[in-house]
Amino acid sequence: MSSKGVLIMFLCFIVVVTCLSVKSEAQLQVGFYGSTCRNAELIVYQEVRKGFLNNKGIAAGLLRLHFHDCFVRGCDGSVLIDSTSDNVAEKDSPANNPSLRGFDIIDNAKARLESVCKGVVSCADIVAFAARDSVVLTRGIGYKVPAGRRDGRVSLVLDTPTNLPFPTSNLDALTKLFKSKGLTQEEMITLSGSHTIGRSHCTAFSKRLYNFSSTTPQDPSLDPAYAAILKKQCPPGNNPDLVVQMNPSSPNTFDSGYYTDILKSRGLLTSDQTLNSTTNTANQVKCNAFEPYQWKKKFAAAMVKMGKLDVLTGTAGEIRLKCRVPN
Ligand code: HEM
Ligand SMILES: *[C@@H]1O[C@H](CO)[C@@H](O)[C@H](O)[C@H]1NC(C)=O
Ligand SMILES: *[C@@H]1O[C@H](CO)[C@@H](O)[C@H](O)[C@H]1NC(C)=O
Repeated sequence: MSSKGVLIMFLCFIVVVTCLSVKSEAQLQVGFYGSTCRNAELIVYQEVRKGFLNNKGIAAGLLRLHFHDCFVRGCDGSVLIDSTSDNVAEKDSPANNPSLRGFDIIDNAKARLESVCKGVVSCADIVAFAARDSVVLTRGIGYKVPAGRRDGRVSLVLDTPTNLPFPTSNLDALTKLFKSKGLTQEEMITLSGSHTIGRSHCTAFSKRLYNFSSTTPQDPSLDPAYAAILKKQCPPGNNPDLVVQMNPSSPNTFDSGYYTDILKSRGLLTSDQTLNSTTNTANQVKCNAFEPYQWKKKFAAAMVKMGKLDVLTGTAGEIRLKCRVPN
């Protein structure tokens, strides 16, 4: 063979090897269960819909579940793992317990999936599908969920305070945290629009009502008329059971109410109202408020991106048989 022929063969060999190695890195894929569990996404949707019809707030719970899964150890279902006698898991951190909800819906979906396709569909993917379905059911814009996530085996309570934002965080802290996850400030603002559905416990914002600073009991960035309403719903004393809607005018609709609230100084959490604290970010709040369709499209794209955070693929991790316990 001529030296030219050898060179060409060698180049082809390199191309093939590169292609193989790219493939073995295993990317998430839309329709991942198409041949292995054809009805996987439909089954998840049916269970989410059932839960939603029974309790509208479930949609918000499931959306938040995906966020809290992805930000802590990547989207690996670690948030679903129960604590044991020798490990306190993520779900028992103050950021998650008692506020996180929707675990029973994930369990229902998983049980049905195990009965039709044993050991095939990961808990992390179920959470990702359920979050999308929740957006759809509350009338956001649907999107295709790249799947093929595998489940992690580790869940540590100590991972949560460093990886999840606090309701008291300011713009700078939120921007930095999201940046550390590869998400831009704009994506942070876009995703915060999730707070257009669901509830918050009074404990997450009661300082704004009663204990803002030593000289000013009430947060001046909170509309006083709204503060008065909130004080009735959340009397002093930090009762851990009390909750309020985050966007009271339409708590179960994925509209831009969250952003119009902020423009009226009615962002519920410090982390919400802080989005209006610089000209640039306030302009985005305005755009999202007045162009809900554009915001919902950006939201869908940002969810797909968030859903890829530090995922386990290929042969990494496992397919849990029960979402609450590693195999
Ligand atoms: C930007 C920083 C964020 C902070 C500080 C934050 C904080 C919070 C807090 C304190 C609650 C109230 C939970 C309760 O007491 O019941 C909440 C609820 C919620 N969050 Fe966030 N969040 C943030 C971003 C996000 C993102 C990115 C998503 C989704 C992609 C999200 C989705 C939700 C949803 C849907 C609820 C309502 C939950 C329910 O009704 O059960 N949040 N958030
Ligand atoms: C305000 O905060 C201080 C210090 O954290 C605490 O001692 C006090 O009980 C709080 N007051 C209210 C009304 O929550
Ligand atoms: C939001 O920010 C803009 C621009 O800085 C400002 O003009 C407006 O008054 C702010 N609105 C609220 C409710 O803080």
